Amino acid sequence: MGFVQGRPRFGRTAENLERGLALAEGMDADLAVLPELWSSGYVFSSRGELAALAEDAATGPTARALRAAARRRRRHYVAGFPEMHRGRFFNSAMLVGPAGVKAVYRKLHLFEREQEWFEPGDLGLAVHRVGPARVGLLICFDWRFPEAARTLALMGADVIAHPSNLVFPDAQWAMRTRALENRVYTVTANRTGADDRPAGRVAFTGRSQVVDPAGRVLARAGRGESCARAARCDLDAARDKGITPLTHLFRSRRPGFYRTLVAPVGAARRRTRRRVG
Ligand code: ACM
Repeated sequence: MGFVQGRPRFGRTAENLERGLALAEGMDADLAVLPELWSSGYVFSSRGELAALAEDAATGPTARALRAAARRRRRHYVAGFPEMHRGRFFNSAMLVGPAGVKAVYRKLHLFEREQEWFEPGDLGLAVHRVGPARVGLLICFDWRFPEAARTLALMGADVIAHPSNLVFPDAQWAMRTRALENRVYTVTANRTGADDRPAGRVAFTGRSQVVDPAGRVLARAGRGESCARAARCDLDAARDKGITPLTHLFRSRRPGFYRTLVAPVGAARRRTRRRVG
């Protein structure tokens, strides 16, 4: 599996899709992951602008372009796009195979001004079959929440596809930890350049990567490169959760002691205050 890295031009949906899929064309991979909001670009100036660029997940330009490529190349694609669903907007990614759109993921953890443009995802986390592999989706800033990657791993993901528009330089190494701590492959497809728009300028960090279940980088792009790169994945390595012969990653967990993780913010502190008097 592999990533496409490049620089979309804001608002040029058809051109961006064509360029991203052209970059992917020669890549030897069963799954090609393109960046977050690839069809539109990232920095919206108004909701009107977002409404003009947002797409239906089944019939919009990203679905049509990926479906045609998936049929032609007999493989799967993941790409980020601005989704419009019943008048609501989501920062979404779709998984598309030769038979059509297989799944949509709506970003759970919105970053900064995305919160003005999009609603937080409401579809939850899920794992999908891509040939013999089980693939889960996250989008960009979801990297900062290890609970999300852990949930996908516990659901059986072998691979986490991670379309991104990363702005912090530490996300790439954090994703190596997400891979290591869950013993999964991660494919981060990031964009390059900057969106310099009336609403502000945001620069992106490139350095897309494929990471193996030991946290090793198998394929990597430079900061400003436009390219597509892939690496072979050994699904058995992702399914072997033995850290050592006697220590199993999942069976060693103590979820009874992790309740605070899924409690609303503040509840744990209130409980602690009560306990210590
Ligand atoms: C981001 O989530 N695009 C930083």
